[in-house]
Amino acid sequence: MNDPTLCYEEHGEIALIRLCRPPVNSLGHALRAALLDAVDRANRQDTVQAIVITGSAGMFSAGADISEFGTPKAAREPRLGRLILALEDSLKPVIAAISGTCLGGGLELALGAHFRIAAPDARIGLPEVKLGLIPGAGGTQRLPRLAGLERALNMILSGNDVPAEQLQDTGLIDAVAGGDIVHAGIGFARRIVAENMPVRKTRDLAISDPAAEAFLGYARTAAATGKDKALLPARQKCVEAISAAVGLPFEQGIALEREKFHLLMQSGEARALRYIFKAERAAGKLDDPPSSDAVHPVSNIGIVGAGTMGTGIAISFLDGGMPVTLLEMDQTALDRGVIRIRKHYELAAKKGKLSAASAAQRLSLLTPALDYASLSAADLVIEAVFEDMDVKKQVFRQLDQACKPEAILATNTSYLDVDRIAQATRRPSNVLGLHFFSPANIMRLLEVVRGEASSRKTLAACLAMARRIGKKAVLAGVCDGFIGNRMLARYSAAAHQLVAEGATPRQVDSSLTGFGLAMGPFQMSDLAGLDIGYAARMRRKNENPGSWRPHIADELVARGHLGQKTGSGWYRYEEGDRAPKPFPLADEIIDEYRSSQGIVPRKISQTEIVERCIYALVNEGARILEEGIAARAGDIDVVYLNGYGFPRRFGGPMFYADEVGLKHVHDTLHAYASAPGAEDWWRPAPLLRSLAASGATFEEWKN
Ligand code: 3HC
Ligand code: NAI
Repeated sequence: MNDPTLCYEEHGEIALIRLCRPPVNSLGHALRAALLDAVDRANRQDTVQAIVITGSAGMFSAGADISEFGTPKAAREPRLGRLILALEDSLKPVIAAISGTCLGGGLELALGAHFRIAAPDARIGLPEVKLGLIPGAGGTQRLPRLAGLERALNMILSGNDVPAEQLQDTGLIDAVAGGDIVHAGIGFARRIVAENMPVRKTRDLAISDPAAEAFLGYARTAAATGKDKALLPARQKCVEAISAAVGLPFEQGIALEREKFHLLMQSGEARALRYIFKAERAAGKLDDPPSSDAVHPVSNIGIVGAGTMGTGIAISFLDGGMPVTLLEMDQTALDRGVIRIRKHYELAAKKGKLSAASAAQRLSLLTPALDYASLSAADLVIEAVFEDMDVKKQVFRQLDQACKPEAILATNTSYLDVDRIAQATRRPSNVLGLHFFSPANIMRLLEVVRGEASSRKTLAACLAMARRIGKKAVLAGVCDGFIGNRMLARYSAAAHQLVAEGATPRQVDSSLTGFGLAMGPFQMSDLAGLDIGYAARMRRKNENPGSWRPHIADELVARGHLGQKTGSGWYRYEEGDRAPKPFPLADEIIDEYRSSQGIVPRKISQTEIVERCIYALVNEGARILEEGIAARAGDIDVVYLNGYGFPRRFGGPMFYADEVGLKHVHDTLHAYASAPGAEDWWRPAPLLRSLAASGATFEEWKN
């Protein structure tokens, strides 16, 4: 019998069942049913004495099939829990032979086997909390019985995986085996048969840890706190289920686990985290990828400009093990950049984040340069010079002369037109935007900006490069600010309007951090520098004088209050302290602005503050979608989650709008747009209007 999802073979007295459901052997209905049949068959076959279950292609199993969640298939028998009970009840010993990844339901399956043998580097874990869930097929009951309570709590509450060799001192792993895992598994099974070892049901083991109450008490406190609020409900339920494993018979514990799993599955947090899982995997993909052999791998990097961004980008590549040539316009600027990079590695080594040898090895990959000829071997050059079109065009002309014909040339511009920059070269198909976020070596987001001439080969090579250096890439089209900064401009305008109408910057900031954003807009503006927004307004004024409107921040900038770097902006800062303090002068400037505009301040509620700012984001997001700047709502959400500190428990602005209901979002925006003097951009985007009218969601659009 060879079902398409698994392979059954008999090797003498050993039955070998290989899971074969690419890409990750997720335990969807077809595989569950086939596995139950295969175990049944081995039990019925007189010649078979033991059963080995293994994976394929370096993957044991990544667990339950997430794409089945919420569909009838998830509930179809055999459910995973029942399959695992049947495995545990097998009269013939079952051995899980694990190599590669063994996560979630995949590990729960292995916990139901009677023995486990693993490759030393097999990755073992229960990541369900990261999906807002608890392990739902016995993981909370069996893992503490095998791995001990403390280790089980750590693994389940963190969701992080552990290499098998770190678990060999626990009952979870009976043997660690190098080499071919199938061969090792069959050998292990033969020994069990030869020694006539009885089956050992995990569920019959007792948990007897004298420190159990102390561990559970500590875990209860830890589960109630934590930065990522999206994980809190699942963590709390994990502790409750593990407490049941300690205090109740197995049958009651497993029933309680199942009940909590199903309850969490319906929660807003779990819906959001599942959506993020899908969105993050879809975002970095081209709909029309070129064949993989057409894509030149990128391994030798050039960077032009060794300022804030250039040095951070350089560190990202050095950390990824790639040689970097860093070019500046003069020796002083070059030295400054190199010193900054060296200091970064010295500090990392001092703090113990890196060994001194690794720090030195990474630094040795850096070549400082003043001459464009030094970039002749680069596969990819990223420009990070001043945000000025003429300067950038000049740099691209020089790069075009100096770099090999197939080299990719990228700009890290925040707002400028990538197509105009590409036209400065004779190779526009090799030009694109690579918009890193600051600090570039820490922030995971990378907007990959597709110019009108950027070839699929160019994009594919940069998407592969992003994966290599651990960035989350999102494809964006060319427009002012791409996805993230274009939306931010509306959010920021909404925040300033609220202050103009009567709110204080602190009230706006605290309403939005209360909603869950990492930082409010005025704190963010003080951190980035008020001059950055001012420069963008000036650029837009030059491009479109009709769009110019006075702005409260103009007076702060004029008086030199640029934010943290000058010690004051919207707030005041004390030397060496980033905590914002009241700044009466900013309040006076706000009052003066209101008087000059004839505004009588009004009291504004927290709800209105949050709605105005978040719906302003959503409305611009809808325009970005209908213009094709982003391909999917999920792409926008990945940008906001990874680049702008949007709370993960809401899944991103577009998913949040879907959950609130697009009709409510539409009607609220319509009301704002209808107020006297309201700016045009408050009008609901046509896409939002049509989705709201049809009762559809952003998530469904084009999916
Ligand atoms: N179910 C369905 N599809 C899955 C999956 C799963 N559990 N895990 C991964 N996939 C899919 C991905 O969506 C992706 O599909 P795509 O190619 O169409 O985009 C493909 O497999 C490859 O995944 P990645 O791009 O993430 O590949 P990586 O090699 O980077 O990572 C991985 C592989 C480490 C397995 C990673 O995918 C992962 O962490 N998966 C999730 C594991 C997980 O959370 N398991 C628990 C599931 S819930 C559960 O088991 C409940 C149980 O307790 C009852
Ligand atoms: P920066 O002012 O810190 O650094 C720019 C560097 O470029 C300076 O060291 C300067 O000497 C060098 N330079 C200027 N002209 C040059 C030339 N012709 N040849 C070689 N080097 C030259 O600026 P920053 O902040 O690093 O910004 C760089 C680019 O990155 C800009 O386009 C900016 O919009 C963009 N960006 C900035 C972000 C930020 O938060 N700072 C975030 C994302 C993008």
